[in-house]
Amino acid sequence: MRKSLLAAIAFLAAAPLLAGLPKGWVGLDTCATCHDDTAKAFVRGPHGRAMAERAPKNLLKLQGNVLQRACESCHGPGEAHANDPSTKNIRTLKGASTAEASSGCVLCHAAQKAGLAMRTPGHARAGIACLDCHVPGHAAPAAEPLLARPRATLCTPCHATETAQFSLPYAHRNGATPFECTACHSAHGGTTARGRIIEDGQAPCVTCHTEKAGPRVYPHPPLAIEGCVACHSPHGSPNPFQLTRASVSQLCLECHPDTPAFHDLSKPAFRGCVNCHAAVHGSQRDPMLLHK
Ligand code: HEC
Ligand code: HEC
Ligand code: HEC
Ligand code: HEC
Ligand code: HEC
Ligand code: HEC
Ligand code: HEC
Ligand code: HEC
Ligand code: HEC
Ligand code: HEC
Repeated sequence: MRKSLLAAIAFLAAAPLLAGLPKGWVGLDTCATCHDDTAKAFVRGPHGRAMAERAPKNLLKLQGNVLQRACESCHGPGEAHANDPSTKNIRTLKGASTAEASSGCVLCHAAQKAGLAMRTPGHARAGIACLDCHVPGHAAPAAEPLLARPRATLCTPCHATETAQFSLPYAHRNGATPFECTACHSAHGGTTARGRIIEDGQAPCVTCHTEKAGPRVYPHPPLAIEGCVACHSPHGSPNPFQLTRASVSQLCLECHPDTPAFHDLSKPAFRGCVNCHAAVHGSQRDPMLLHK
């Protein structure tokens, strides 16, 4: 008896939230009475399906049926427009800046917005918004998940310099195909190593180059401190092994200008530093990095 009473109270408390739409909203079903094709395409498309299948519990609880909220989250409250259809009383979003058109996304995707601000501050500062990389979902996307362009060219329009670096003689390529940017970068962070690229230059590399992961008994400090990019250009380089300098000795001597006297640098044999210091990525048994 007590239990069912409590349940009834809980239900009554939740009912307005489950059923209710904000004031001035009418819901997707109402939009569909006139925009049948657009609504159908949206609901059957990847965004509508994702909303129906994967809406987080808290979103469902707080906002009722997420799908019913979809159109007006982006286009704004539609009651006035439904009563008097005109393009003047609805946010058409045609020709709007991507930032303006994306303002509705964060009603449901707070995590991605936070991730964008935290993980790629450059993007946040420059006002890069969701719809610079994504599409809303009225029509089929160029790639999953709801991407505006194929993955291989997603970042190209704004990052010509980095894209070109993948054509340098020594670069991260599979044959002629450059690595996708998302092999190392994460657009809005996450808990994976890929999301930490800005803070930690080593993490994204050792997911593939696992044998370079530490810790070592005798680490080489620049690797542990600055990460792989202390010596390698991550995208590509004119130099073998994607090194940041034209030759190995040049790279080493910049940080070690005072090598022990027996290093006769006029002799080519001594300029091949890694011939002797083979454990440049750190050693398990030799503080002078002579053996791995
Ligand atoms: C009673 C019918 C009706 C309903 C209901 C309705 N619309 Fe419209 N809508 C129209 C008509 C008609 C136009 C075109 C008006 C014009 O061109 O002047 C339009 C235009 C639009 C446009 C601009 C399209 C363009 O080409 O620029 C958007 C966006 C839009 N509606 C979204 C919605 C949304 C979202 C809902 C639900 C909240 C909705 N509409 C509900 C009839 C309706
Ligand atoms: C995630 C945000 C978002 C959602 C959700 C959304 N739209 Fe749109 N809509 C846009 C944007 C942005 C445009 C501008 C054109 C474009 O980029 O596709 C647009 C354009 C339109 C247009 C005019 C162009 C066209 O395709 O006919 C109509 C009509 C429209 N939306 C109706 C709807 C309806 C109805 C729904 C719900 C089923 C809906 N939209 C859901 C963002 C959204
Ligand atoms: C009414 C709530 C709502 C709005 C507004 C909304 N989304 Fe979503 N979206 C969802 C839900 C729910 C999911 C499924 C769960 C998830 O992936 O987070 C989803 C999934 C996605 C996905 C993954 C799709 C897939 O195929 O896995 C992308 C990308 C996305 N949304 C981008 C956007 C962008 C960009 C906007 C704004 C233009 C937007 N969303 C606006 C609720 C919404
Ligand atoms: C619409 C343009 C645009 C697109 C698309 C874009 N970027 Fe950016 N990106 C920028 C701008 C602008 C900056 C800031 C540059 C600056 O501050 O000098 C930036 C900065 C960055 C930075 C530097 C880190 C930071 O936070 O400062 C990284 C890394 C980056 N972008 C990666 C990417 C990747 C990966 C993609 C594709 C998934 C991408 N960008 C897509 C415009 C874009
Ligand atoms: C610089 C390009 C870029 C921007 C800006 C961007 N995204 Fe994404 N988004 C991606 C890529 C790429 C993926 C696929 C993730 C992957 O494969 O690592 C993705 C994935 C997603 C997903 C699927 C779940 C997840 O987190 O992986 C959602 C939801 C999403 N984005 C929403 C948003 C929203 C909302 C915004 C704006 C606050 C936004 N995105 C801004 C590129 C971007
Ligand atoms: C193999 C991993 C990897 C791939 C693939 C990759 N990046 Fe990077 N990227 C990095 C690392 C590591 C840094 C940090 C470099 C540093 O700190 O010196 C970086 C830095 C950047 C920066 C900031 C540059 C600056 O001067 O601050 C941008 C922008 C960027 N990458 C864009 C891209 C784009 C666009 C692509 C795809 C065309 C891409 N990256 C592919 C690893 C990668
Ligand atoms: C997605 C997996 C992946 C990631 C992430 C990755 N790499 Fe690579 N890397 C490869 C592959 C595959 C090759 C090509 C190996 C070959 O040709 O034998 C390669 C080649 C290299 C080479 C040249 C090796 C040679 O023998 O010429 C260097 C140096 C290198 N990577 C450093 C890095 C650094 C530094 C990072 C982090 C910024 C990184 N890699 C991230 C997969 C990856
Ligand atoms: C102190 C400079 C330095 C740092 C830091 C560094 N490397 Fe290297 N790396 C080199 C040099 C020099 C070579 C060329 C070795 C040779 O000529 O045999 C090389 C070669 C490589 C190669 C190709 C040959 C091999 O040994 O497999 C890969 C892959 C590589 N590095 C990955 C990485 C990764 C991943 C990191 C970060 C975890 C890293 N490097 C950090 C200097 C460095
Ligand atoms: C970015 C700077 C940097 C680069 C590049 C660099 N090192 Fe180092 N290396 C250090 C630092 C810092 C230490 C710690 C010892 C110190 O403070 O001198 C160290 C330690 C060493 C040691 C151990 C001996 C000692 O003094 O503790 C050897 C051997 C060594 N490096 C060889 C090399 C070789 C060979 C190269 C080129 C492949 C190289 N280093 C490139 C910064 C660098
Ligand atoms: C022919 C082998 C050989 C070559 C080539 C060589 N080294 Fe060494 N290096 C050694 C040996 C052996 C030691 C250790 C000496 C000792 O134990 O005191 C050493 C020690 C060092 C130290 C540590 C100094 C100290 O006492 O802290 C540095 C730094 C160093 N080398 C840098 C370089 C650089 C930079 C190059 C390339 C320009 C290079 N080495 C080339 C054999 C070599």
